[in-house]
Amino acid sequence: MKKVYFLIFSLIIISCENTQKNKIMPLVTIEKKAFGRTLDGVDIDQYILKNRNGMEISAINYGGIITSWKAKDREGNYKDIVLGFNKLSEYETESPYFGAIIGRYGNRIAKGKFTLNGEKYTLAVNNGKNHLHGGLKGFDKVVWDSKEVVEDMTASLVLSYVSNDMEEGYPGNLEVQVIYTLNNNDELSVKYEAVSDKTTIINLTQHSYFNLSADFNKNILDHDILINADSFLPVDSILIPTGEIRNVGDTPFDFRRPKNVGEEISNSNKQLMIGNGYDHCWVLNNQDQGLRFVASAYDSGTGRLLEVFSDQPGIQFYSGNFLDGTLKSKIGGIYDFRSGFCLETQHYPNSPNEKGFPSVNLNPGEKYMTETIFKFSSK
Ligand code: GLA
Repeated sequence: MKKVYFLIFSLIIISCENTQKNKIMPLVTIEKKAFGRTLDGVDIDQYILKNRNGMEISAINYGGIITSWKAKDREGNYKDIVLGFNKLSEYETESPYFGAIIGRYGNRIAKGKFTLNGEKYTLAVNNGKNHLHGGLKGFDKVVWDSKEVVEDMTASLVLSYVSNDMEEGYPGNLEVQVIYTLNNNDELSVKYEAVSDKTTIINLTQHSYFNLSADFNKNILDHDILINADSFLPVDSILIPTGEIRNVGDTPFDFRRPKNVGEEISNSNKQLMIGNGYDHCWVLNNQDQGLRFVASAYDSGTGRLLEVFSDQPGIQFYSGNFLDGTLKSKIGGIYDFRSGFCLETQHYPNSPNEKGFPSVNLNPGEKYMTETIFKFSSK
């Protein structure tokens, strides 16, 4: 009898220990370390979000930049698939928005001018005659407050920033939050929230440059892209949409079935010539469905598949045409022409000046809330 009691007692102890172990070994973690100091002396931290499979995403509170993102190939190897730098100073001085949060307005606003409720506004002009990606010091170049939140199945980095009234020319004090959440399905959700005390305009996005081969010395022309869009926005010579919404049928802009980026990129097509490749906003299908599948990218060499889900009406597919070999890669070597691509979910460029485009206005009392999910798998 004593033996039976002892056995039951031992089993209880073992099962308690296992429960303890499960508690001690969370399925997702966040590690925080120092990343560097900005040129004006602010210490910047790096947060490493890890899930139980091996996906690892590092982000810093300067610009909310995703500095590294390890995703698995078909053999199960997790490797870094985003372009970036090793040093903070490189992000501060020469980055073409690698991995950054973009705001207040992602993409271009013609001549930096728009009218809102009868008031004329002039934004910082930083791209020829135009305003691009929030101006001279957009959200990609500010220091965000940061907070880690670990729950049973998710690890989140909550980034907050208050953009003052008239910062870069935008009206209203804007309180912004961007939340990166990693789960155990190899998905990163990016949630954007904002409120303003005056009517303003807003169009936030994430500017990671992917190269799913994990070999930044290779270009991305052999990736297969799919964009769930029946039309796109043709642009003028300075990449401002003309206002026309053009059907993709019989054009190199038809990505409704997976197509190699390189397949038609060199076709003699006026729009491709203007963009020096793909650098356009697609008008996504099923806009009334909220969060839905919008695009994917696949690298047949390694088997990595990225699927993008979003509630946004548009997506800028940029084939890295301004990369020209002058920036040094974080793995040694250089970032050559088209060595990375971006899939920036967003509202259409220059919306404040196009009545036919969905509104980007945010009024006091309203809450701007949008979400995009980047899901990785391999096949
Ligand atoms: C966006 C734009 C491009 C370019 C890059 C940054 O994707 O559409 O034209 O400005 O950002 O280099």
